[in-house]
Amino acid sequence: EGSKLWGGRFVGDTDPIMEMFNASIAYDKRMWDADIRGSKAYVKALEKAELVTTEEMENILHGMDQIHDEWSKGVFEVKPGDEDIHTANERRLKELIGEPAGKLHTGRSRNDQVVTDMRLWLRDAISTLKRNALQLITTMVERAAVEMDVLFPGYTHMQRAQPIRWSHWLLSHAVALSRDLERLHEIRRRVNVLPLGSGAIAGTPFNIDRELLRQELAFDDISINSMDATGQRDFVAEFLFWASLCLTHLSKMAEDLMLYSTKEFSFLVLSDAYSTGSSLMPQKKNADSLELIRSKAGRVFGRCAGFLMTLKGLPSTYNKDLQEDKEAMFDCYDTVHAVLQVTTGVLSTIKINRGVMEAALSPDMLATDLAYYLVRKGVPFREAHGISGKAVFLAESKSILLNQLTVEELRTASPLFSSDVSAVWDYSSSVEQYSAPGGTAKSSVAAQVEHLRTWLKKQ
Ligand code: ARG
Repeated sequence: EGSKLWGGRFVGDTDPIMEMFNASIAYDKRMWDADIRGSKAYVKALEKAELVTTEEMENILHGMDQIHDEWSKGVFEVKPGDEDIHTANERRLKELIGEPAGKLHTGRSRNDQVVTDMRLWLRDAISTLKRNALQLITTMVERAAVEMDVLFPGYTHMQRAQPIRWSHWLLSHAVALSRDLERLHEIRRRVNVLPLGSGAIAGTPFNIDRELLRQELAFDDISINSMDATGQRDFVAEFLFWASLCLTHLSKMAEDLMLYSTKEFSFLVLSDAYSTGSSLMPQKKNADSLELIRSKAGRVFGRCAGFLMTLKGLPSTYNKDLQEDKEAMFDCYDTVHAVLQVTTGVLSTIKINRGVMEAALSPDMLATDLAYYLVRKGVPFREAHGISGKAVFLAESKSILLNQLTVEELRTASPLFSSDVSAVWDYSSSVEQYSAPGGTAKSSVAAQVEHLRTWLKKQ
């Protein structure tokens, strides 16, 4: 047992199943680069504190570069007994450079090392996700700009509600994603804090220059309290929640798209590139991309809920339970990374059936506008709502469309109806009324496009 980093006080061997149960190397080796970066910075602080000589530092730095090379070429050999990435890299360093390797961990604990690695890794992951999300939002905004003139039915409660622009629908999802991106940016600020120099719990008794570490590793801040720094994982929990919320937004959008692409709706045609077939039914073209986008929200929320369960009731400071943070973080990253790219692909290739979308509009969707017609003639809205409702009922009982009621028939509901009511039955002029900021009029949707374009430029 002398071979283990912590083997000094042990006489018995670890049970082989316990060895496997305890090890995290299978998944935390993903952080090999972060781990090396952290160690390279740390040895510089050790040298400044005169805990290693300049020569020893050079040896360690050189050794670390060799290990970096091995990992990046895919030839690093994980050996039995390499418990985690920290253990593996240190074991290899010793093999490569001999004794000075034993000085690298002076004043450092895997408790501050692992959380430093996590933060470095997540910081890079966040940058990638930001790029993916920006690409998706750009795709949506530019599509909205091009297809501005397409109208289709808007639904509430999944019932036909009011005519809207297709672009208005697209932008509604783009705006939600823009908030997700802002949230991600805010999370990054709290992720980008240096824990190294916190030791296992109490801090460091050596002259470790934490400001030097901060600069070397490009963190924005230094952790304030060593117990908090090593024992808290709220930055991970926040990221998992972020992933859950972002994918919840995308699952909503996927659900709409799935519905709109059914034969019954036929508003949209999903590209073959994002569809799959049936092994039995030759005619099938399934929206598997959209279904998987929808499903992944459940997956990442499971990770979030699961990890919060792990955190709940933990005592202060580092406990091995915290090792569970990694698979949750990696899986949520991989999932969101894939979903954002697939969604970008789906939305940039989907074809719209403008004719079908516009033909799906019906005069009953203008019943609100019929009420507004009366409001403009001085009728209180509540009363106008009731009169328009009566007209809807009348048309339904005659089995005709709302706009097929004659002025005389409408006048049975209110004497204020006159021949100018015919102007209500025009979908294009209907949407044009909704020109206040945020509405579905062309000017308003164009302003939304401009708003998002300006916002995108600032990201
Ligand atoms: N593999 C461990 C983890 O992921 C590293 C930290 C271990 N620290 C310890 N005191 N056992 O959390």
